[in-house]
Amino acid sequence: MSTIRLGDEAPNFTAQSTEGNINFHNWLGDSWGILFSHPADYTPVCTTELGTVAKYKAEFDKRNVKVVALSVDGVQSHHDWIKDINETQDTTVNFPIIADEDRKVATLYDMIHPNSDNKLTVRSVFVIDANKKVKLTITYPASTGRNFDELLRVIDSLQLTTYHKVATPANWNNGDDCVIVPAVTNEEISSLFPKGHTEVKPYLRLTPQPNLN
Ligand code: BEZ
Repeated sequence: MSTIRLGDEAPNFTAQSTEGNINFHNWLGDSWGILFSHPADYTPVCTTELGTVAKYKAEFDKRNVKVVALSVDGVQSHHDWIKDINETQDTTVNFPIIADEDRKVATLYDMIHPNSDNKLTVRSVFVIDANKKVKLTITYPASTGRNFDELLRVIDSLQLTTYHKVATPANWNNGDDCVIVPAVTNEEISSLFPKGHTEVKPYLRLTPQPNLN
């Protein structure tokens, strides 16, 4: 078991999946990534989650994000369950599901929380950037399906910080004003933020979202 913290390199692994053997780092290439676990195949909440993720593919592609799911069931079980997901969620699963029967990846990423369930993975989420650095970790209980709109919102925020030197304030949504990161000096502001800015306080400087027309 290892603790994975923000800023750490996402540990590499090789694993069986529904799309063949995956070397995680090679599979990521220069994309961002989401690695997310669910408790088990043929469970109701997981069925809705994986169907939802399949429907969001265009949103993930737009953000250069590859998605991979994981549970401790085998490849054949995953393939059989995918038929149910496609049928009941009216979609086509379009991302790999890792078959972590020996719990190698689950252990590496600390996805089994024994005081919750000592065999099955909880609902972990890891967002990884194009440099293989872990940018977000979230853990949900088995009984709560994840909010994938929130995941997209956080990825948008992370990418704004990485590529545009802005952070995002409380309850920010796409299109709202952003916060200029403290590392940007007042001398740099006009060249970096041609749309202008408002200085509410010297440490609180707002600018229109930079990557929108
Ligand atoms: C599930 O659907 O995965 C689930 C639902 C309730 C409790 C635990 C798991």
